[in-house]
Amino acid sequence: MPAEIVDVQTSENFRAIQLQILDGLQRPAGQKNLPTMLLYDERGLRLYDDITTMAPEYYLFGAEEDILKNHAMDIVMAMHNTTGCIPGETVIELGAGSLRKTSHILRSLSHIVDIPSRVPLITYYALDLEKRELERTLNAIAISDIGSDLKGKVETKGMWGTYDDGLKYLKSTGLYAPTAIDRPSRLEASMRFDARDLSPSSTTSGSDSSGAHVFDVSPPSTPEEVQPPLHIMFLGSSLGNFNRKDGAAFLHSLPLRPGSGDTLLLGLDHANEKDLIEEAYNDPRNHTKRFIMNGLRGAGRALGNETLFLEDKWDYVNVCFLVVKF
Ligand SMILES: C[S@@+](CC[C@H](N)C(=O)[O-])C[C@H]1O[C@@H](n2cnc3c(N)ncnc32)[C@H](O)[C@@H]1O
Repeated sequence: MPAEIVDVQTSENFRAIQLQILDGLQRPAGQKNLPTMLLYDERGLRLYDDITTMAPEYYLFGAEEDILKNHAMDIVMAMHNTTGCIPGETVIELGAGSLRKTSHILRSLSHIVDIPSRVPLITYYALDLEKRELERTLNAIAISDIGSDLKGKVETKGMWGTYDDGLKYLKSTGLYAPTAIDRPSRLEASMRFDARDLSPSSTTSGSDSSGAHVFDVSPPSTPEEVQPPLHIMFLGSSLGNFNRKDGAAFLHSLPLRPGSGDTLLLGLDHANEKDLIEEAYNDPRNHTKRFIMNGLRGAGRALGNETLFLEDKWDYVNVCFLVVKF
């Protein structure tokens, strides 16, 4: 069965991106910019895949993949440290991409649900910008061996739109608040898996043995008020696509509810050597250059002429100005 894709796009997106392009190009020299969203059209996503599969210099992907491959279960346990698995819980991944890393989390999520049911206990939404890529990646998961692990346990769906669209949709539909159908019956609630029984420690600490951090916001007050938690995943150092101020504002805008067991799984690089970073974003076989240059086509297309910015009139330079060590 083809993957279900929820269209959450808002009509303002097209005009908004045009205005961002014009605003970014009118800035003084040295401050000009284009929205990073332009990088991720269908071709851009394939080019990004090329970076992650053919440019080992881009160490971030492999490093994060190793963490998820080796510690997905620890991470999933930390996500459920305070609540266990509650029927109706939602996992949403912002900018899901290829789902290669996600597949480890999905498999581990399936392992915390004991018994398959007609309505799977957990719903996972892959949010991204390109509908066809969402269909392709979700269908690939469904027909892989992970797909059979997920059956009756974790339902996978696409959410087509921007981060803002997806977050608006979550807030407006109350996707993560229980509906009459989703709300766990007392029997279901009593059957819920309690990760604390299996985890090595029963603290509410947000870090696990992988060193990954799952930000957690404490348990619900009474069992009767059990609300399915919302788990947000934001991997691949995508926060780096924001400047610091906007990145902080974006994290603040996430609809995580204190006292609900909601969590945020954030994948970020740490401070590294300047040369290593510069090579990661400018590999010798030019995979990254092709990916970045594709953004120029996107910018032209958004303004009505795909060849408005001729690639051969532009150069790709990648300089790491500042490495902050914590
Ligand atoms: C750096 S890639 C990371 C992909 C994947 N999460 C990973 O870790 O490999 C960023 C992803 O976010 C998506 N993306 C970028 N900006 C977005 C936006 N404003 N709204 C929704 N998705 C966005 C891109 O299409 C792309 O799939």
